[in-house]
Amino acid sequence: MIEGPRHFLDISALSREEVRAIVDEAHARKAARIDWPKAAPDEDKPLDGHALAMIFQKNSTRTRVSFEIGMLQLGGQSIVLNANDTQLGRGETVQDTARVLSRMVDAVMIRANNHQDVLDFAEASDVPVINGLTDLSHPCQIIADIMTIEEWLGDISGKTIAWLGDGNNVCTSFIHAAEKLDFKLRIATPANYAPRAQEAAAAKAAGADVSVGTDAQAAIDGADVVVTDTWVSMGDTDKDARMAAFPSYAVNDDMMARAASGAVFLHCLPAHRGEEVTNSVMDGPQSAVWDEAENRIHAQKAVLLWCLGKL
Ligand code: CP
Ligand code: NVA
Repeated sequence: MIEGPRHFLDISALSREEVRAIVDEAHARKAARIDWPKAAPDEDKPLDGHALAMIFQKNSTRTRVSFEIGMLQLGGQSIVLNANDTQLGRGETVQDTARVLSRMVDAVMIRANNHQDVLDFAEASDVPVINGLTDLSHPCQIIADIMTIEEWLGDISGKTIAWLGDGNNVCTSFIHAAEKLDFKLRIATPANYAPRAQEAAAAKAAGADVSVGTDAQAAIDGADVVVTDTWVSMGDTDKDARMAAFPSYAVNDDMMARAASGAVFLHCLPAHRGEEVTNSVMDGPQSAVWDEAENRIHAQKAVLLWCLGKL
């Protein structure tokens, strides 16, 4: 039987061992190049001669730059495509685009409005496809988040992570990861903004310790890690309703004081200071957000190596 390409579409599709191997590789590659110039290649150049195409249907700073620099560090090259500048923007199907890019590059990363488009692209692709964020999930972000938590607090297993705010794409990928790395996840969202019920149900059925409720204070009490994200994600059209629903889920100093002493604050960024998080928390001593942003590079590299069979 011919094995298909190794896609990185959601953490839920990987084994525990694969997720652990990706995070460990990210830690190791970061440790091996401390204070190096940022575009200098790693000693082994494992993706020498390889090319990555990135397709963006939505804005990006971190994902774009971390993949581009990550490919340089791995010895490969990347091409960035704004979806609207390609024939996708004029109606060429995702499947035909996938067939063509499969003949031209070694892997494709897509940031898409609809998760189904990424699944359809992957189905038609002969090369690995990476989910660079969809309306459903953001798995690349969570690899960097796990790495950051481990840098600050040690092994993530057994830690309690509180998610406050919107049950969005980043929250969903945390749910997927909880089942793989044995951390406790306490999610608090307004009732209308809970994550998709099937994600938490599937994680719990697989043995994950995940709770979903509406009580922000109960979720944060004693937590080792506090995470939030924007209340209005790219593509959300109900901004006014959201701005009315979320204020009691904001992460401020009083909320952080309820978490464990030494608790770490994470945010995938971009942050909306004064909305989901205060300046004092973003810029305070418990904030790991800049490490988290840097770790996108190391996480992306490990994901690419896994996809291309180098892990
Ligand atoms: N966190 C994240 O994915 O950031 P960008 O939208 O800037 O890529
Ligand atoms: N939830 C946010 C994440 C941005 C990186 C969004 O989808 O816009």
